[in-house]
Amino acid sequence: MSWRVLVSDEVDQVLLSTLEDSGMHVDYRPDIERQDLVSSVGGYNVLVVRSRTRVDREVIDAGRALKVIARAGIGLDTIDTEYARSKGIKVVFAPGSSTRSVTELTFAAFLSISRSFCTLSTMAREGGKFLKKTGREVSGGKTLGIIGFGRIGQDIASVASAFGMEVLAYDVVRNEEAAERLGVSLVALEDLLRGGSDYISINVTVSPGQPPLIGKKEFSAMGRRPVISNTSRAAAVDGNALLEALKSGVVSVYYTDVMWNEPPREKFEMDLLRMENFVVTPHIGAQTEEAKRRVAMETASNIVKAWRGGEI
Ligand SMILES: NC(=O)c1ccc[n+]([C@@H]2O[C@H](COP(=O)([O-])OP(=O)(O)OC[C@H]3O[C@@H](n4cnc5c(N)ncnc54)[C@H](O)[C@@H]3O)[C@@H](O)[C@H]2O)c1
Repeated sequence: MSWRVLVSDEVDQVLLSTLEDSGMHVDYRPDIERQDLVSSVGGYNVLVVRSRTRVDREVIDAGRALKVIARAGIGLDTIDTEYARSKGIKVVFAPGSSTRSVTELTFAAFLSISRSFCTLSTMAREGGKFLKKTGREVSGGKTLGIIGFGRIGQDIASVASAFGMEVLAYDVVRNEEAAERLGVSLVALEDLLRGGSDYISINVTVSPGQPPLIGKKEFSAMGRRPVISNTSRAAAVDGNALLEALKSGVVSVYYTDVMWNEPPREKFEMDLLRMENFVVTPHIGAQTEEAKRRVAMETASNIVKAWRGGEI
């Protein structure tokens, strides 16, 4: 039997063509509204989503013929995976496909923040002011603390060592093999913060409802007024505590690719957006041609394997 696939978010064309070429019927509806999704998902065997579509119990219950829910990306926090699996639906995703793109974005942030790249460029273009502000190098003698030493955390460590940075990492799982291979010291979270990280990169996974990993206590332990990058999930950090840390200067600059709400709506988010030392990009970690293509190919291949009854 040919499977019917509903793609409810924007994806690379190669995902659609691979599924069609393997004989599936694909409906591409990247702008579908929630109510429309709930009323039509019952006619499909596969639902392909990115972060916009929330796949909760209502959607899963409505998807009576669903065999696979595919996240064309990494985070599964928008899908009630436990409930889906309890109903016999496979949940597949594309881990690793955007790792290098996120690593590059992290270093783009560290390098540009350290040289006030955006501010000085805007002043030169718009105000005609050629301000020769002194910056700093990320190289030699600087310490990078990585919180979450998984795929992205390890890739960031490999690039950091090319810059000659000392790298500390904290993770709930101690990956001694990766640490040794990459020349990284595994430490406790408190030591990473207090021991003096000049740069901190947050790369943890976050489950729905999980309390923030970095709050008031953790900010107050930070020794060197670090530049922090968070390309994982905003909820890893307590937004109100961050606001205080940026006001007091405990954190020199906080860069994030992820907001608590996208688009932001809460008061603390609006307050953060007004802070000069708060830098944000609109969730572009995986938005490169290369990552989108790898995500599309990996997702399509997982769906085809599930269709043919193979292991994923
Ligand atoms: N900005 C983007 O567009 C973008 C793109 C890709 C991935 N991401 C996000 O980046 C994060 C990391 O992705 P990854 O592929 O490296 O995932 P991964 O699963 O390979 O690594 C995550 C690591 O975090 C660790 N971890 C989880 N909870 C922790 C905690 N409380 N304390 C310490 N360590 C903890 C895990 O043990 C794991 O080693 C995910 O949240 C993912 O959703 C964002």
